[in-house]
Amino acid sequence: MGPSPTQETPEPVPASQSDKRFLQALARRPVDRPPFWFMRQAGRYLPEYRAVRETAGGFLDLCYTPDFAVEVTLQPIRRYHMDAAILFADILVIPDALGQPVAYQAGEGPVLEPIRSAAAVARLQTGRVVDHLAPVFETLRRLRTDLPDDVALIGFAGAPWTVATYMVEGGGSPDHAVTKRWALGNEPGFETLIDMLVDATVDYLSAQIDAGAEAVQLFDTWAGALPASGFRRWCVEPTRRIVAALKDAHPGVPVIGFPRGVGANYLAYVKETGVDGISIDSSVSPAWAAATLQPLCAVQGNLDPQYLVTGGDAMLAEARSILEALSDGPYVFNLGHGIVPQTPPEHVAVLSDLLHGS
Ligand code: CP3
Repeated sequence: MGPSPTQETPEPVPASQSDKRFLQALARRPVDRPPFWFMRQAGRYLPEYRAVRETAGGFLDLCYTPDFAVEVTLQPIRRYHMDAAILFADILVIPDALGQPVAYQAGEGPVLEPIRSAAAVARLQTGRVVDHLAPVFETLRRLRTDLPDDVALIGFAGAPWTVATYMVEGGGSPDHAVTKRWALGNEPGFETLIDMLVDATVDYLSAQIDAGAEAVQLFDTWAGALPASGFRRWCVEPTRRIVAALKDAHPGVPVIGFPRGVGANYLAYVKETGVDGISIDSSVSPAWAAATLQPLCAVQGNLDPQYLVTGGDAMLAEARSILEALSDGPYVFNLGHGIVPQTPPEHVAVLSDLLHGS
């Protein structure tokens, strides 16, 4: 017996045919106003997030329980009605799924048992990524029905280089020295690790798209730590392979890259990876991005998140000047990095009002 009519949900409209403002901008089509969303728009600056976080227990329980993950994804949309919602999860679910458990300790950030040898890389379990992350796909399926009609759904993953820094250092680190020495010194094992992460990321993002993600973003937060030659090998090349595989399996689903802190190398990244959108950090001049990057792809960014802490006229003036520089080409307003926990939610409301055009 087939499902009863009340259980049927309509087939979602493919990203390439959607009229959502965020997807239009990524497709380089004209929009009535620039779409916007904010990196880390769900998180500790919101009291309602902190309340769910307490109920959930551990941070990974929050990521792996669809009831909670759907709720915290929707929280900023209810308050500010951004043009896109980003799946609530973390870039470190990939090491967790590969069998390198991750613990999030209050005030200290993520902690992992470091992987520093070819033998340790060989012990990772590559076959179980999609099974282990099944709750994330359920979260996406529910979001696709729960989100307002005009809000796009973004999936994401960390880029291989950035995820590898956490796996090798055992958490955050000031200079990623151990990872860099392994990568740059041509010792065995590192290339295998990156190859595994490329495959895992393709599987993970493909499954996110199958579950309803309409665009995906690759966070390469520590790309700027690499020398120029290493940048090509460990940031651009793995990203190029991921983009090519995703384009093959899901043509029409836009990919946004965020290689943070790479300066003039943003241009090489855009040219060589094939991304549809480039998220720029706050150090990049919007005028330079408009002249150099926008002819090639959509640009996203780049208000410094500290402006959202100070608020007021300084924040509004800076946002207006970024809008002015970038609004003539394909553009998505965002921050140059994630919202910080000290941000007063009222300041996000003031900025959102400006971006809504009121
Ligand atoms: O709203 C969103 O943007 C979606 C969710 C999201 C989180 N992390 C939730 C999170 C996204 C897209 C990320 C990406 C992420 N995670 C990155 C890349 C972007 C960036 O900010 O550079 C990185 C490097 C991580 C790894 C990570 N996760 C760290 C270093 C930490 C601890 C430091 C911190 O900011 O808290 C996390 C934890 C984390 N990920 C939190 C959230 C909301 C805070 C956890 C808590 O509630 O205690």
